[in-house]
Amino acid sequence: MILYPPIEIIQVSNKTFPDGESYIRLEKTVQNQHIAIIQTTSSPQDSNLMKLAFLADAAKQNGANRVTAIVPYLAYARQDKKFLQGEGISIETVARMLGAAGIDELLTVNIHSGNTLKKFPFPAKTISAIPLLAEYFVQKGYKKAFALAPDKGAMHIAIQAQQVLGGDVGHLNKQRDRYSGQTIQTGKDLRVKGQTIIIFDDIISTGGTIVGAAKILHEQGAARVFTACVHPLLIGDAETRILDAGIDEIVGTDSVPSNISKVTLAPLIAKALKAHKSG
Ligand code: R5P
Repeated sequence: MILYPPIEIIQVSNKTFPDGESYIRLEKTVQNQHIAIIQTTSSPQDSNLMKLAFLADAAKQNGANRVTAIVPYLAYARQDKKFLQGEGISIETVARMLGAAGIDELLTVNIHSGNTLKKFPFPAKTISAIPLLAEYFVQKGYKKAFALAPDKGAMHIAIQAQQVLGGDVGHLNKQRDRYSGQTIQTGKDLRVKGQTIIIFDDIISTGGTIVGAAKILHEQGAARVFTACVHPLLIGDAETRILDAGIDEIVGTDSVPSNISKVTLAPLIAKALKAHKSG
């Protein structure tokens, strides 16, 4: 937790009670201060979301005058509409809960769909880590690599990567069965033969999307295939499955700690906070 200006770190004691409930306590006064809480909400999502809400409440209960939440990975953002009859909109429930807890504004990184934030009960903004991920590959000597989106919805991400890499850009197509969760991927006329391809996505979860994309790219004669994501959830054996599918390297950010979190979000978040402070 950071207090600014001047920037000061507030230590937080936290523990888990024997029944699984979370407890937190701020160890310094926050009276009349603007507080920034940095808390990602990757697994265990529900517990991390509660901790974020408790931190905001503790800040407000102890006199903070403003609470900004910095949530590098915002859980539940993929349930941003009612896909099937009877469903709710999980991310809107999360937003209302955070607002009720005392959050006044929120900054996140590459939320699945930016439009989601318009429904939040407080100002919320998403920033992109894709240029940092693309820069990682430039540093490795892959300038001019082909930036590929695994589906049309991720094309805006691939375009951001292309602006750094300077090569070609394109997308595959992906359709998901909303009952079984199974996806069908296709890709036509991509002209990837002999090229270095980097697949950019917001999230890698089970790895199914990247494994399917790798198969198509290898069938079409790609020379080498890398993948980069902002949020490496990497459920189960996702990392092994992706490498077994012939992906040369998987790169993610530290929005979710993992083996492949090789790109830190720290400079991006620091820049956004500084701009906010002076804005
Ligand atoms: C969904 O459209 C997202 O952008 C990702 O493509 C998806 O969450 C990846 O999931 P998985 O790794 O399970 O295929």
